[in-house]
Amino acid sequence: MSNDTEAEALRLDAAEPGHRHLFHVPPADGGRYPEAAYLAGNSLGLQPRATRDELLADLDAWSRLGVEGHLAAERPWLPYHELLTAPAARLVGALPTETVVMNSLTVNLHLLMVSFYRPAGERTRIVIEDSAFPSDSYAVRSQARFHGLDPDTTVVRLTPRPGEDTLRTEDVTGYLAAEGHTVALVLLGGVNYLTGELMDIPAITAAARAAGAVVGWDLAHAAGNVPLSLHDWDVDFAAWCSYKYLNSGPGALAGVFVHERHHGDATLPRFEGWWSTAAATRFQMAPVSRPPATVEAWQISNPPIFAMGPVRTSLELFDSVGMPALRARSLRLTGYLERLLDEVTADRPLRVITPREPRRRGCQLSVRIGAGSANELTRRLRHEHGVIADAREPDVVRFAPVPLYSTYHDCWRVAEALAATVPGVAR
Ligand SMILES: Cc1ncc(COP(=O)(O)O)c(C=O)c1O
Repeated sequence: MSNDTEAEALRLDAAEPGHRHLFHVPPADGGRYPEAAYLAGNSLGLQPRATRDELLADLDAWSRLGVEGHLAAERPWLPYHELLTAPAARLVGALPTETVVMNSLTVNLHLLMVSFYRPAGERTRIVIEDSAFPSDSYAVRSQARFHGLDPDTTVVRLTPRPGEDTLRTEDVTGYLAAEGHTVALVLLGGVNYLTGELMDIPAITAAARAAGAVVGWDLAHAAGNVPLSLHDWDVDFAAWCSYKYLNSGPGALAGVFVHERHHGDATLPRFEGWWSTAAATRFQMAPVSRPPATVEAWQISNPPIFAMGPVRTSLELFDSVGMPALRARSLRLTGYLERLLDEVTADRPLRVITPREPRRRGCQLSVRIGAGSANELTRRLRHEHGVIADAREPDVVRFAPVPLYSTYHDCWRVAEALAATVPGVAR
């Protein structure tokens, strides 16, 4: 890569600085720049600078107030989770009554499947993508077993066509048109963790619902990455984690969406605890719950306040910048990285497998390597160039220029590091 392109990257950054100053960027572990080029926000987002102080303020309330903090803290703990509801709803295009932050992602998927996976008669199948994140695969297989069904025949794994890397929308809708009468649940990743493909959520949701199936989305790689309109798209349910694009820290609390048409439906099975009953009835100590007609009926336990703080801080940041502005920057950054990767991959055993159309992807670009190990390549990128990406064995390396804190210069460093690390082949 030439110095000209580096100068261009620096010019672009000067013209469009983004919000990097709001984050802690790790130091580089090699190479000639002090800060890492951090392209792994699709795995774990960086820490917002505001998080520590906000968390300390919540801890101070505990030290000063003890149990009184439930009502007397500056941000009282009893209704604390409500502070997260409206910004989370805005992020995913939902009504506040449809969104709640609780638990972790796979736990939430299970709690939602308690309600929304109800195999009956010949309608027993669960449709996932073959490249679903393993946790989802394990979750749906265990749900099938829980219902006394054989996971090998109950779980259908949709694969791309021969020679293709990603699913076409028609691959999903075609299956639903042909086999929909056997499908109880469609559970797909909104953005696929491996390929970075953004599925056509509204089209697939409509096809699944037309086939009489329930449709849920794992939005781990979509929330905070791409604009979402879950309510208008008529999605039945969705869940997402907050430690990737939502920058809320390792294992951070997750989000849940349940469409309002399911609220208050007493026929839906649901697991309950004291947080499932309406807030006004919570301390009446009654033996029978009175769940609200909102998604909060899916809550079970009282929420961990110190885990909620970082999610609140992050959601406030998303609110202040706004998804439309982030998506616009994301399209520019990822398009820029794609152009640089096109140059590097042209004469190397590397291939971008993420769809080329910007509307079919978020910020992540996945590169399939034709030789060597993905782990070894990311190790070298990190230690020789200070570029942090992640490997999905055996042969995929993922790069996510995150619009909040990644820069054009980070993208340039990725391309330069790949060019220096992977030998070219003569053409
Ligand atoms: C798409 C997807 N689903 C599920 C999970 C698992 O999430 P958790 O461990 O938070 O349940 C991940 C984790 O990276 C993921 O990427």
